[in-house]
Amino acid sequence: MLVTLAERPDLASATYAIPYPPGSAKFMAGSLASLLVRGRRVARLWPHLVVAMLDPACDRPVARGIMVPFRGRGSLPARGWDEVAVWAAEDALDEVTPDTACALEIAVHPEHQGRGHSRTVLEGMRSAAASAGLGALVIPVRPPDKAAVPSMPMSDYVAETRADGLPADRWLRTHVRAGGRVEAVAPCSATVQAPLSDWRLWTGLPFDRDGVVFVAGALGPVFVSASEGFAVYVEPNVWVSHRVG
Ligand SMILES: CC(C)(COP(=O)(O)OP(=O)(O)OC[C@H]1O[C@@H](n2cnc3c(N)ncnc32)[C@H](O)[C@@H]1OP(=O)(O)O)[C@@H](O)C(=O)NCCC(=O)NCCS
Repeated sequence: MLVTLAERPDLASATYAIPYPPGSAKFMAGSLASLLVRGRRVARLWPHLVVAMLDPACDRPVARGIMVPFRGRGSLPARGWDEVAVWAAEDALDEVTPDTACALEIAVHPEHQGRGHSRTVLEGMRSAAASAGLGALVIPVRPPDKAAVPSMPMSDYVAETRADGLPADRWLRTHVRAGGRVEAVAPCSATVQAPLSDWRLWTGLPFDRDGVVFVAGALGPVFVSASEGFAVYVEPNVWVSHRVG
């Protein structure tokens, strides 16, 4: 069963408490843009755009889909996730009427993965976007399996298909099967700039030399300036558009 937090505000905490699998990219918490659209704020401003899938046996959320609304600005930005987070916050501050939903996250409880729940959540998001009067749903998709090949350019990764023509990547394939259209790579979608002390905490790695470091869970390289005391990760994502309704 699918609900939004507008329908079931009592489920906000349980919905946000759905964990990521162990070993997931902790360093993404260092994204500054993500602070603008933190969970509680989205739940307060746009509860109708936070979708929860409930386990009918216990009425508890097992998956979530989180969207923010914004006014389209012509084309999908190269600075994908980060830029839309800023646009959504700007539009809310400026009281601009949105026309597009952007999904920031879809997560399925680790104990409930591999059962097609993400497709159900996607469908719930399309219908929630339509009910909100938004004409489009776009997603800066983060294919987690890309972390296995962090040196491969995202454009090459996206181009890999199976014999049936569907994307080789399972998460992109799920989107395409659900009717999504791969639009473009967002080459600098999510940026984490942080002091080396943060990177050491997140990864357990020494970060003691200038250059490139490959970190578990990252889709590309992390650039380190040991001499200046910081490292920067710029994550590529993939813009996918879905019909609403
Ligand atoms: C990515 C995620 C949302 C997929 O949700 P899900 O409900 O488990 O996915 P599905 O059951 O619909 O499976 C999708 C595809 O992945 C495959 N798959 C599922 N779990 C898998 C695993 N552990 N390893 C490899 N393939 C797997 C499925 O077989 C399916 O492919 P197929 O249709 O060709 O058989 C889920 O793994 C998740 O929450 N991950 C953590 C959060 C995240 O990374 N979200 C995406 C970025 S926002």
